[in-house]
Amino acid sequence: MADPLLTRIDHVGIACHDLDAAIERYQTIFGLAVVARETNEEQGVHEAMLAVVAGSYVQLLAPTRPESPVGRFLARRGEGVHHIGYGVEDVESALGSLRGQGVRLVDQRARHGSMGAAIAFLHPSDVGGVLTELVQATP
Ligand code: CO
Repeated sequence: MADPLLTRIDHVGIACHDLDAAIERYQTIFGLAVVARETNEEQGVHEAMLAVVAGSYVQLLAPTRPESPVGRFLARRGEGVHHIGYGVEDVESALGSLRGQGVRLVDQRARHGSMGAAIAFLHPSDVGGVLTELVQATP
């Protein structure tokens, strides 16, 4: 049997209106600490990574503008789970394998993600309605 494509749950991506308020909530309720924070202008998102254990995070996402993907998600669905990020050994190889199975890809090639990872999104309609991200973490 082939090795499994997914190696771990890397993060759960959660959409929120106010990043500072969401960080405060996760710190207060769960005692999680922020390990990285960045703004991705291209994706229109402010984000924070809070470590659960090494290599496994809560990713809080707030829009930089209403018409960004996360802004549109919030307008349509409100705050809540936005996507699941799974760890993979090699994101380009995983994309090739999934493409071969006919799974629709949002990203045809890997791109820059949080904390220097190479990431790519799969189309939710081929993954049971779940926006799914593959994450090849930096070594
Ligand atoms: Co993510």
